[in-house]
Amino acid sequence: MTESVTVRVPAKVNVQLAVGAARADGFHDLANVFLAVGLYDEVTATPADSLRITVSGPDAALVPLDGTNLAARAAVALAERHGIPPGVHLHIAKDIPVAGGMAGGSADGAAALVACDALWGVGAAPDELLGICAELGSDVPFSLVGGAALGVGRGEQLTSLEVGGVFHWVFATADGGLSTPAVYAEFDRLTPAAPAPQASPALLAALREGDAASLAPSLTNDLQPAALSLRPSLADTLRAGEAAGALASLVSGSGPTTAFLAKDAASARTVAEALRTSGTCRTARVATSPAPGATILG
Ligand code: C5P
Repeated sequence: MTESVTVRVPAKVNVQLAVGAARADGFHDLANVFLAVGLYDEVTATPADSLRITVSGPDAALVPLDGTNLAARAAVALAERHGIPPGVHLHIAKDIPVAGGMAGGSADGAAALVACDALWGVGAAPDELLGICAELGSDVPFSLVGGAALGVGRGEQLTSLEVGGVFHWVFATADGGLSTPAVYAEFDRLTPAAPAPQASPALLAALREGDAASLAPSLTNDLQPAALSLRPSLADTLRAGEAAGALASLVSGSGPTTAFLAKDAASARTVAEALRTSGTCRTARVATSPAPGATILG
Protein backbone atom coordinates (compact mmCIF):
# COMPACT_ATOMS: atom_id res chain seq x y z
CA MET A 1 0.00 0.00 0.00
CA THR A 2 1.13 3.59 -0.69
CA GLU A 3 2.65 5.03 2.50
CA SER A 4 1.55 8.62 2.06
CA VAL A 5 0.57 11.16 -0.58
CA THR A 6 1.27 14.89 -0.38
CA VAL A 7 -0.72 17.39 -2.46
CA ARG A 8 0.17 21.07 -2.87
CA VAL A 9 -2.70 23.50 -3.46
CA PRO A 10 -2.77 27.26 -4.13
CA ALA A 11 -4.64 30.21 -2.63
CA LYS A 12 -6.85 32.39 -4.84
CA VAL A 13 -7.69 36.00 -5.37
CA ASN A 14 -10.88 37.13 -7.10
CA VAL A 15 -9.90 39.68 -9.71
CA GLN A 16 -13.59 40.28 -10.37
CA LEU A 17 -16.33 39.29 -7.96
CA ALA A 18 -19.68 40.41 -9.36
CA VAL A 19 -22.51 39.45 -6.99
CA GLY A 20 -26.20 39.26 -7.87
CA ALA A 21 -29.23 39.14 -5.60
CA ALA A 22 -29.71 36.33 -3.06
CA ARG A 23 -31.34 33.24 -4.59
CA ALA A 24 -34.08 31.11 -3.09
CA ASP A 25 -31.41 28.69 -1.75
CA GLY A 26 -29.64 31.55 0.05
CA PHE A 27 -26.62 31.57 -2.27
CA HIS A 28 -25.87 34.43 -4.67
CA ASP A 29 -25.37 34.15 -8.41
CA LEU A 30 -21.85 35.26 -9.23
CA ALA A 31 -19.57 36.20 -12.07
CA ASN A 32 -16.43 35.24 -10.20
CA VAL A 33 -13.07 35.56 -11.95
CA PHE A 34 -10.65 33.43 -9.95
CA LEU A 35 -6.89 33.65 -10.22
CA ALA A 36 -4.74 31.12 -8.35
CA VAL A 37 -1.78 32.67 -6.52
CA GLY A 38 1.44 31.04 -5.42
CA LEU A 39 0.78 30.79 -1.69
CA TYR A 40 0.29 27.13 -0.90
CA ASP A 41 -1.00 24.66 1.66
CA GLU A 42 0.22 21.07 1.54
CA VAL A 43 -2.01 18.19 2.62
CA THR A 44 -0.44 14.80 3.38
CA ALA A 45 -2.68 11.72 3.56
CA THR A 46 -1.38 8.69 5.48
CA PRO A 47 -3.29 5.47 6.25
CA ALA A 48 -4.75 5.44 9.79
CA ASP A 49 -7.36 3.52 11.82
CA SER A 50 -9.80 6.44 11.77
CA LEU A 51 -10.10 9.92 10.27
CA ARG A 52 -7.74 12.35 11.97
CA ILE A 53 -6.69 15.92 11.11
CA THR A 54 -3.56 17.70 12.28
CA VAL A 55 -2.38 21.15 11.25
CA SER A 56 0.95 22.95 11.39
CA GLY A 57 1.89 26.53 10.50
CA PRO A 58 1.53 29.99 12.05
CA ASP A 59 -2.31 30.00 11.96
CA ALA A 60 -2.69 26.31 12.93
CA ALA A 61 -4.61 27.07 16.13
CA LEU A 62 -7.38 28.74 14.07
CA VAL A 63 -8.11 25.65 11.93
CA PRO A 64 -10.93 23.28 13.06
CA LEU A 65 -9.78 19.69 13.58
CA ASP A 66 -13.24 18.11 13.57
CA GLY A 67 -15.58 16.89 10.84
CA THR A 68 -16.37 20.46 9.75
CA ASN A 69 -12.90 20.83 8.25
CA LEU A 70 -13.31 20.68 4.46
CA ALA A 71 -10.38 18.25 4.25
CA ALA A 72 -12.26 15.83 6.51
CA ARG A 73 -15.49 16.31 4.57
CA ALA A 74 -13.66 15.63 1.29
CA ALA A 75 -12.21 12.35 2.61
CA VAL A 76 -15.63 11.22 3.90
CA ALA A 77 -17.38 12.15 0.64
CA LEU A 78 -14.92 10.16 -1.48
CA ALA A 79 -14.91 7.20 0.91
CA GLU A 80 -18.74 7.01 1.03
CA ARG A 81 -19.05 7.03 -2.75
CA HIS A 82 -16.56 4.19 -3.14
CA GLY A 83 -17.40 2.10 -0.08
CA ILE A 84 -14.01 2.69 1.52
CA PRO A 85 -13.59 3.16 5.30
CA PRO A 86 -12.33 6.76 5.69
CA GLY A 87 -9.31 5.75 7.80
CA VAL A 88 -6.80 8.44 6.99
CA HIS A 89 -4.57 10.89 8.78
CA LEU A 90 -4.66 14.23 6.96
CA HIS A 91 -1.88 16.60 7.92
CA ILE A 92 -2.33 20.17 6.69
CA ALA A 93 0.85 22.27 6.46
CA LYS A 94 -0.91 25.62 6.38
CA ASP A 95 0.58 28.68 4.75
CA ILE A 96 -2.58 30.25 3.27
CA PRO A 97 -4.14 32.84 5.63
CA VAL A 98 -7.03 31.31 7.61
CA ALA A 99 -10.57 32.75 7.16
CA GLY A 100 -8.94 35.41 5.00
CA GLY A 101 -10.88 35.40 1.73
CA MET A 102 -8.17 33.42 -0.06
CA ALA A 103 -10.00 30.06 -0.09
CA GLY A 104 -7.59 28.36 2.31
CA GLY A 105 -10.26 25.98 3.65
CA SER A 106 -11.47 25.23 0.13
CA ALA A 107 -7.88 24.56 -0.93
CA ASP A 108 -7.50 21.97 1.83
CA GLY A 109 -10.73 20.28 0.72
CA ALA A 110 -9.52 19.97 -2.87
CA ALA A 111 -6.06 18.80 -1.77
CA ALA A 112 -7.45 16.17 0.61
CA LEU A 113 -9.71 14.84 -2.14
CA VAL A 114 -6.81 14.43 -4.58
CA ALA A 115 -4.58 12.95 -1.86
CA CYS A 116 -7.19 10.37 -0.71
CA ASP A 117 -8.03 9.48 -4.32
CA ALA A 118 -4.37 8.62 -4.89
CA LEU A 119 -3.78 6.98 -1.48
CA TRP A 120 -6.80 4.69 -1.84
CA GLY A 121 -6.17 3.99 -5.53
CA VAL A 122 -9.67 5.17 -6.47
CA GLY A 123 -8.69 6.84 -9.74
CA ALA A 124 -11.86 8.97 -9.87
CA ALA A 125 -12.49 10.77 -13.16
CA PRO A 126 -11.88 14.55 -13.19
CA ASP A 127 -15.64 15.20 -13.48
CA GLU A 128 -16.37 13.14 -10.39
CA LEU A 129 -13.71 14.99 -8.42
CA LEU A 130 -15.11 18.34 -9.61
CA GLY A 131 -18.63 17.23 -8.62
CA ILE A 132 -17.50 16.32 -5.09
CA CYS A 133 -15.67 19.66 -4.87
CA ALA A 134 -18.85 21.55 -5.83
CA GLU A 135 -20.76 19.73 -3.06
CA LEU A 136 -18.10 20.75 -0.54
CA GLY A 137 -18.22 24.49 -1.31
CA SER A 138 -18.50 27.14 -4.00
CA ASP A 139 -14.74 27.81 -4.22
CA VAL A 140 -13.50 24.22 -3.94
CA PRO A 141 -13.69 23.31 -7.67
CA PHE A 142 -11.41 26.23 -8.51
CA SER A 143 -8.86 25.13 -5.91
CA LEU A 144 -8.73 21.80 -7.73
CA VAL A 145 -8.10 23.25 -11.20
CA GLY A 146 -6.10 26.43 -10.41
CA GLY A 147 -4.82 28.75 -13.13
CA ALA A 148 -7.56 31.25 -13.90
CA ALA A 149 -11.26 30.63 -14.41
CA LEU A 150 -14.64 32.30 -14.60
CA GLY A 151 -17.04 30.80 -12.07
CA VAL A 152 -20.78 31.29 -12.54
CA GLY A 153 -23.78 29.92 -10.65
CA ARG A 154 -22.64 30.15 -7.04
CA GLY A 155 -19.08 30.18 -8.39
CA GLU A 156 -18.73 26.42 -8.90
CA GLN A 157 -19.44 26.25 -12.67
CA LEU A 158 -16.02 26.93 -14.14
CA THR A 159 -14.66 27.94 -17.52
CA SER A 160 -10.87 28.12 -17.74
CA LEU A 161 -9.36 31.44 -18.79
CA GLU A 162 -6.17 32.18 -20.62
CA VAL A 163 -3.55 34.25 -18.78
CA GLY A 164 -0.85 35.81 -20.95
CA GLY A 165 1.79 36.63 -18.33
CA VAL A 166 2.83 36.69 -14.69
CA PHE A 167 1.10 39.07 -12.25
CA HIS A 168 2.84 40.29 -9.08
CA TRP A 169 0.73 40.62 -5.95
CA VAL A 170 1.03 41.62 -2.33
CA PHE A 171 -1.41 40.22 0.22
CA ALA A 172 -1.88 41.96 3.55
CA THR A 173 -3.31 39.73 6.25
CA ALA A 174 -5.46 41.03 9.09
CA ASP A 175 -5.92 39.90 12.66
CA GLY A 176 -9.11 37.85 12.96
CA GLY A 177 -11.14 36.47 10.07
CA LEU A 178 -14.40 37.68 8.54
CA SER A 179 -17.31 35.25 8.24
CA THR A 180 -18.25 34.75 4.58
CA PRO A 181 -22.01 34.39 5.33
CA ALA A 182 -21.86 37.60 7.41
CA VAL A 183 -20.21 39.49 4.54
CA TYR A 184 -22.85 38.25 2.06
CA ALA A 185 -25.60 39.25 4.54
CA GLU A 186 -24.07 42.74 4.78
CA PHE A 187 -23.95 42.84 0.95
CA ASP A 188 -27.71 42.09 0.91
CA ARG A 189 -28.35 44.88 3.41
CA LEU A 190 -26.27 47.40 1.42
CA THR A 191 -27.48 46.30 -2.04
CA PRO A 192 -31.26 45.91 -2.09
CA ALA A 193 -31.46 45.50 -5.91
CA ALA A 194 -28.25 43.88 -7.16
CA PRO A 195 -28.17 43.57 -10.98
CA ALA A 196 -27.41 40.24 -12.68
CA PRO A 197 -23.64 39.65 -12.47
CA GLN A 198 -21.59 39.89 -15.68
CA ALA A 199 -17.90 39.18 -16.31
CA SER A 200 -16.08 42.29 -17.52
CA PRO A 201 -14.77 41.97 -21.11
CA ALA A 202 -11.99 44.49 -20.33
CA LEU A 203 -10.82 42.40 -17.38
CA LEU A 204 -10.81 39.16 -19.39
CA ALA A 205 -8.81 40.91 -22.14
CA ALA A 206 -6.26 42.23 -19.59
CA LEU A 207 -5.81 38.69 -18.21
CA ARG A 208 -5.32 37.33 -21.72
CA GLU A 209 -2.70 40.00 -22.44
CA GLY A 210 -0.99 39.42 -19.11
CA ASP A 211 -0.82 43.17 -18.69
CA ALA A 212 -0.89 44.47 -15.09
CA ALA A 213 -1.47 48.12 -16.10
CA SER A 214 -4.63 47.11 -18.01
CA LEU A 215 -5.79 44.71 -15.30
CA ALA A 216 -5.48 47.31 -12.51
CA PRO A 217 -8.47 49.53 -13.42
CA SER A 218 -10.66 46.45 -14.03
CA LEU A 219 -10.23 44.86 -10.59
CA THR A 220 -13.58 44.90 -8.79
CA ASN A 221 -15.12 43.17 -5.81
CA ASP A 222 -18.81 43.72 -5.08
CA LEU A 223 -18.25 42.33 -1.56
CA GLN A 224 -15.72 45.07 -0.78
CA PRO A 225 -18.23 47.67 0.56
CA ALA A 226 -19.71 44.97 2.81
CA ALA A 227 -16.28 43.88 4.09
CA LEU A 228 -15.34 47.53 4.72
CA SER A 229 -18.63 48.13 6.49
CA LEU A 230 -17.91 45.22 8.87
CA ARG A 231 -14.20 46.06 9.18
CA PRO A 232 -13.71 49.82 8.47
CA SER A 233 -9.99 49.65 9.32
CA LEU A 234 -9.36 47.76 6.04
CA ALA A 235 -9.65 51.12 4.24
CA ASP A 236 -6.41 52.19 5.98
CA THR A 237 -4.65 49.07 4.68
CA LEU A 238 -5.89 49.70 1.13
CA ARG A 239 -4.66 53.32 1.29
CA ALA A 240 -1.25 52.30 2.70
CA GLY A 241 -0.63 49.87 -0.18
CA GLU A 242 -1.70 52.39 -2.81
CA ALA A 243 0.50 55.09 -1.26
CA ALA A 244 3.44 52.67 -1.54
CA GLY A 245 2.95 52.37 -5.31
CA ALA A 246 0.50 49.51 -5.88
CA LEU A 247 -1.28 49.78 -9.24
CA ALA A 248 -4.57 48.83 -7.58
CA SER A 249 -5.92 47.47 -4.32
CA LEU A 250 -8.96 45.45 -3.35
CA VAL A 251 -10.37 43.24 -0.64
CA SER A 252 -9.70 39.58 -1.48
CA GLY A 253 -13.02 37.71 -1.73
CA SER A 254 -14.99 38.24 1.47
CA GLY A 255 -11.85 39.51 3.23
CA PRO A 256 -10.27 40.54 5.48
CA THR A 257 -7.10 39.88 3.45
CA THR A 258 -6.40 42.78 1.10
CA ALA A 259 -4.72 42.33 -2.30
CA PHE A 260 -2.43 44.76 -4.12
CA LEU A 261 -1.45 44.44 -7.76
CA ALA A 262 2.13 45.57 -8.39
CA LYS A 263 3.90 46.61 -11.59
CA ASP A 264 6.72 44.07 -11.15
CA ALA A 265 8.53 41.97 -8.55
CA ALA A 266 10.61 44.89 -7.21
CA SER A 267 7.52 47.06 -6.74
CA ALA A 268 5.74 44.18 -4.99
CA ARG A 269 8.63 43.92 -2.49
CA THR A 270 8.48 47.69 -1.87
CA VAL A 271 4.71 47.64 -1.31
CA ALA A 272 5.00 44.62 1.02
CA GLU A 273 7.70 46.29 3.11
CA ALA A 274 5.67 49.52 3.36
CA LEU A 275 2.58 47.56 4.45
CA ARG A 276 4.54 45.59 7.06
CA THR A 277 5.69 48.82 8.72
CA SER A 278 2.40 50.73 8.22
CA GLY A 279 0.71 49.41 11.34
CA THR A 280 -2.43 48.72 9.26
CA CYS A 281 -2.12 44.94 8.89
CA ARG A 282 -0.66 41.88 10.57
CA THR A 283 1.85 41.13 7.84
CA ALA A 284 2.25 41.27 4.06
CA ARG A 285 3.28 38.54 1.62
CA VAL A 286 4.33 38.68 -2.02
CA ALA A 287 3.10 36.06 -4.51
CA THR A 288 2.74 35.64 -8.25
CA SER A 289 -0.10 34.33 -10.37
CA PRO A 290 -1.29 32.25 -12.07
CA ALA A 291 -0.43 29.11 -10.10
CA PRO A 292 -1.28 25.46 -10.84
CA GLY A 293 -4.18 23.74 -9.06
CA ALA A 294 -3.97 20.80 -6.65
CA THR A 295 -0.80 18.87 -7.57
CA ILE A 296 0.53 15.59 -6.21
CA LEU A 297 4.11 16.08 -4.96
CA GLY A 298 4.73 12.48 -4.03
O1 C5P B 1 -20.12 27.59 -0.75
P1 C5P B 1 -19.53 27.98 0.55
O2 C5P B 1 -19.81 26.98 1.63
O3 C5P B 1 -18.10 28.34 0.48
O4 C5P B 1 -20.29 29.31 0.96
C1 C5P B 1 -20.15 29.86 2.26
C2 C5P B 1 -21.24 30.88 2.48
O5 C5P B 1 -21.03 32.01 1.62
C3 C5P B 1 -22.64 30.40 2.12
O6 C5P B 1 -23.24 29.78 3.23
C4 C5P B 1 -23.34 31.69 1.77
O7 C5P B 1 -23.72 32.40 2.94
C5 C5P B 1 -22.25 32.50 1.12
N1 C5P B 1 -22.24 32.38 -0.36
C6 C5P B 1 -23.27 32.98 -1.09
N2 C5P B 1 -23.25 32.89 -2.45
C7 C5P B 1 -22.25 32.25 -3.10
C8 C5P B 1 -21.20 31.65 -2.38
C9 C5P B 1 -21.23 31.73 -1.00
O8 C5P B 1 -24.17 33.58 -0.53
N3 C5P B 1 -22.27 32.21 -4.43
